[in-house]
Amino acid sequence: MKSILATAASLLPLFYSSTYARPQTTTASTACNNSPSLCSRPYFNVTYLGAHDSPFVSNSSNSYDISGNQYFNTTMQLNAGVRLLQAQIQRLNSSDSSSALHLCHSSCQLYDAGTITNWLSEVNTWMGNNPNEVVTILLVNGPGATASELGPLFTNSSITQYSYTPTSATPSTWPTLQEMITANTRLVTFIASLDSNTGAEFLLNEWNYIWENNYDVSAASNFTCTPSRPSSVAGSFSTAQSSGRMFLMNHFLYQNQLFGIQSPDVENAGSTNSPDTTTVGALGYSANQCQSQYGAAPNFVLVDWFNVGPTIETVDSLNQISDATGRTSVTTANLKIESDGSSQSGAYRIERSGVVLMMGAAVAFFMLCM
Ligand SMILES: *[C@@H]1O[C@H](CO)[C@@H](O)[C@H](O)[C@H]1NC(C)=O
Ligand SMILES: *[C@@H]1O[C@H](CO)[C@@H](O)[C@H](O)[C@H]1NC(C)=O
Ligand SMILES: *[C@@H]1O[C@H](CO)[C@@H](O)[C@H](O)[C@H]1NC(C)=O
Ligand SMILES: *[C@@H]1O[C@H](CO)[C@@H](O)[C@H](O)[C@H]1NC(C)=O
Ligand SMILES: *[C@@H]1O[C@H](CO)[C@@H](O)[C@H](O)[C@H]1NC(C)=O
Repeated sequence: MKSILATAASLLPLFYSSTYARPQTTTASTACNNSPSLCSRPYFNVTYLGAHDSPFVSNSSNSYDISGNQYFNTTMQLNAGVRLLQAQIQRLNSSDSSSALHLCHSSCQLYDAGTITNWLSEVNTWMGNNPNEVVTILLVNGPGATASELGPLFTNSSITQYSYTPTSATPSTWPTLQEMITANTRLVTFIASLDSNTGAEFLLNEWNYIWENNYDVSAASNFTCTPSRPSSVAGSFSTAQSSGRMFLMNHFLYQNQLFGIQSPDVENAGSTNSPDTTTVGALGYSANQCQSQYGAAPNFVLVDWFNVGPTIETVDSLNQISDATGRTSVTTANLKIESDGSSQSGAYRIERSGVVLMMGAAVAFFMLCM
């Protein structure tokens, strides 16, 4: 049992983090990214479901680590339809600029998901087994690693065999998913940020290609679609639109703890990730709002606990597809909350008992009707 202080200390870096996440079947030859309707769409005209902090998995094997943002590992995410994998790079020893780069949540003392090459190898294996899928990776470059340091970590995993390199920093056209699949250049890799990609041209500086809304939100009523980064498009949908960048919509909540500390808000994941289009704070509501304010659907929808909602429902709706195929279904349960009654707040327990009461009432009503 950790002391309150130790818990507070382990949470502290989460606050800084926010400154900143199947075998081939016969249908695989006709569907692109799980739908035949998406094959003819250019890469920039598709909405991709993104797993925020993809490798930072919180499940029963690590007692639902408080620094985790997803319940399922990267392979399971991909199997279930996630097509943007977001993560953070940190140095094992943050005060030593020659120390190895790992995938860590804020700090490698807090959550170390291992080497970049190892994780990329996992994605490489999946891409080999799923030749009709286009995948995007977005790595937050905490320590400001250079392309010459990052490039070999990618090459060593062999994943660069799939890398796509656009012909210009703000391409006016992108290939269709089918064209990327046919050419087998079906991995797009963004780094936030990268001053120069000389020597590793497949590493793309995120801010040349993508704009984002605010990500640091801790109240359901505070989600906004307004461009926030990069600064050149901040505040203006029309500037963002005419810049040719794609739209990454952040939609996850932080929870404010004592002492200004923030952690992912797991208790509200059900409402945050809901496809409901009528409730403020729900993914479905925000997605509709963003599409109408921007004039196009977001290209990437980045969420915590992607299985809850389920968030893929909102993404299918933005893509206007109803023919999705080849996905592995995963539980939509908010696993930590359902498994760990002791971590629930009083308010949550009241809410739960409210649900139980309502269910009891529904059963009673049902029995009355019989
Ligand atoms: C559970 O989390 C661990 C990391 O702690 C990961 O290795 C494992 O694959 C996860 N299980 C699932 C089903 O995602
Ligand atoms: C991911 O989780 C699945 C399901 O538990 C498991 O079969 C697989 O080995 C895991 N993969 C990795 C790389 O941990
Ligand atoms: C890449 O792999 C080679 C051969 O296994 C190894 O010598 C080299 O150190 C690796 N480079 C990096 C950057 O991991
Ligand atoms: C919501 O946003 C307003 C305006 O930026 C801010 O004053 C308020 O503190 C935010 N609420 C929370 C809970 O973060
Ligand atoms: C794709 O194009 C359609 C038709 O113009 C548009 O409604 C939709 O918002 C676009 N989606 C994206 C992600 O650009």
